[in-house]
Amino acid sequence: MNKEETKARISELSKIIENHNYNYYVLTQPTISDYDFDMLLNELIELEKLFPELVLPDSPTQRVGGDLTKEFKTVKHRYPMLSLSNSYNIEEVKDFISRIKKTIEEDVEFVCELKFDGVSISLTYENGLFVKAVTRGDGTQGDDVTTNIKTIRSIPLRLKGNYPDFFEMRGEVIMPHSSFNSINAEREDLGLQPFANPRNAAAGTIKLQDSKEVAKRKLDQYCYFMMMDDDKMIFNTHYESLAAAKQWGFNVSNFMAICKNVEDIEDFINYWDEKRKELPFDIDGIVIKVNDFKQREILGFTAKSPRWAIAYKFKAEEAHTKLLSVDFQVGRHGTITPVANLEPVQLAGTIVKRATLHNADFIEQLDLHHEDIVSVEKGGEIIPKITAVDLKLRKEDSKKITFIEHCPECGTKLVKAEGETAWYCPNTLGCPPQIKGRIEHFISRKAMNIESLGEGKVEVLFDNNLIKDYSDLYNLTYDNIYGLEKIIIVEDETNLLQENVRKVSFKEKTANNIIEAIEKSKSVPFARVLFALGIKYVGETTAKLIAKAMGSIDNIINASLEELTEIEEVGGKIAMSIKDFFADERNIAIINKLKEAGLQFEQEKKEVSENQVLSGMSIVVSGVFSTMSRDEIKQLIEDLGGKNVSSISKKTSFVVAGDKMGPEKRKKAESLGIEIKTEEEFLAMIGNNTIEPEVTSGQQGVLEFDF
Ligand code: IVH
Repeated sequence: MNKEETKARISELSKIIENHNYNYYVLTQPTISDYDFDMLLNELIELEKLFPELVLPDSPTQRVGGDLTKEFKTVKHRYPMLSLSNSYNIEEVKDFISRIKKTIEEDVEFVCELKFDGVSISLTYENGLFVKAVTRGDGTQGDDVTTNIKTIRSIPLRLKGNYPDFFEMRGEVIMPHSSFNSINAEREDLGLQPFANPRNAAAGTIKLQDSKEVAKRKLDQYCYFMMMDDDKMIFNTHYESLAAAKQWGFNVSNFMAICKNVEDIEDFINYWDEKRKELPFDIDGIVIKVNDFKQREILGFTAKSPRWAIAYKFKAEEAHTKLLSVDFQVGRHGTITPVANLEPVQLAGTIVKRATLHNADFIEQLDLHHEDIVSVEKGGEIIPKITAVDLKLRKEDSKKITFIEHCPECGTKLVKAEGETAWYCPNTLGCPPQIKGRIEHFISRKAMNIESLGEGKVEVLFDNNLIKDYSDLYNLTYDNIYGLEKIIIVEDETNLLQENVRKVSFKEKTANNIIEAIEKSKSVPFARVLFALGIKYVGETTAKLIAKAMGSIDNIINASLEELTEIEEVGGKIAMSIKDFFADERNIAIINKLKEAGLQFEQEKKEVSENQVLSGMSIVVSGVFSTMSRDEIKQLIEDLGGKNVSSISKKTSFVVAGDKMGPEKRKKAESLGIEIKTEEEFLAMIGNNTIEPEVTSGQQGVLEFDF
């Protein structure tokens, strides 16, 4: 492909991909498979690599992030970003309507919308191109977060249809529950403080410096307000403007309604107060807006908010109950989390009898005393929280809740890291819940994948003194574990009168599966072994990067702090945590035992083949293969001296075609007379020069992309 042809293809691909993004993220009706989508995206990535000067400003490749922002530029808003006045009951909504009716004699129509609980954002579009995203800030100026916002796939980078030359779109960046839950699970696993709610998580995410990380967090965005110079406004009503915005490609919620009177508004509010529990994201109320722009102009603004709109805030569901006691739980990294035990109380459809108290500072802020009557709330959030204490009902002689000074499990004196809120037990290798937590992490699917040991079985082995740390797993035999059992009591959260008794037992099949899975785990690649060790702050991705950069466990053990911080994504905090881990002789002893057991502690090396049969050849690989993955075929080509190229040209030596090779590629190869080899023909050609492909985790079922 020459430069002109590449330019045309880049433009075509950008349009096709963005349209698929729209179908998937806005219409939620994808028209191609994820696999085919990735094929298109990867073709574009390759072409952009060849000709960086041809990258379009609205290229969908920007959605994956990559650029780092050192400091967000402060930008003045062209139109100030106002907030809304709030109402908390229908009487206040009625007052709002009466005030309007005093000024406007003719009929007034209202639009009711969901009040998205996220972070407001202003998006600027010039000639149909997305150019800037700014946070609300203080309303007159905010932070330019354009690079991060581009990763949100429901935000159009180029508009469709007949749009004005210049305007701003206002909306809310939200974090769906699915993203929130998985991010928090990962944070807890890494020993980081989880986000309190999806709004905080969204706010924290759009201010991250690494846009790649933002892309991973899967934010979403809804638009609810169009701003442009008054003399340029082409619509008569708000509803029309949002309908047009939808046509141009914006994500506008379908859940809005035109209401002609207070009864309609009340119905909308009541409907969503109930239904909001079924939404995949949080809303904290309903926004009621005058529909007609001329009427809005007459009504005008107060200093802070428009007179033509009001927010109705849902009541967070609240209950009052007695604090019975406080438990202190010890996490896998030793972090102590205080948990309130409450007199069971009905709240938002479930019985609540526990609430997190987060940390010592939170208890202090509440000034919590024994037997206090507390308010428990369940807003949009998933975990109930204690929001207040009723001081009038406090018993005179009741004692203040004090935070423990020693670990409730092993008695070790607790410590607190500088600048952190959490207390933790430093007895990492001797404290039972930390030991069990670490073993549970070690066997988890993304680590050593010994899942047959899940669901309470680690506890049974630990209780029977069969394992003291994860290296002991490799001494287990069938005879050791066969026949073990334990009864555990699982409480039913929704019905406290019921307790489920569950038996964990090691029958013949289970015992065999466990021993087999332990044996199989010995071939798990180094990066996953490193992750499995459970070093604080070293997650799956970081472990991969460290393994690749350092090559072996011994190199990591001997690395200096400086060498560690040179690794991508490893900052001072992670590097210190790695140094601390290996400074402990007991960890070194465990690693030596694991080495003896035969675990992988070196990154697999690829041998350089002496027989460079593909030397000097440019090869295109396309489609799906049966004996190995596309990446493995490409690796083979490289190892045998060939060069992988993404698009077919006169210079292409041949194409290796699997199933589902793109019809365009086939046509092109045929027209240029380039040979197309089947998988078998290719393997026959390279004959005995194959090199065992690197075994990577979870390869089965994972789609490989055509780079
Ligand atoms: S309209 C002139 N509509 O609620 C005000 N706001 O306190 C324009 N919000 O800052 C805002 N959903 O962040 C509007 N459907 C919606 C909304 C919404 C959420 C947020 C927005 C605003 C705050 C108002």
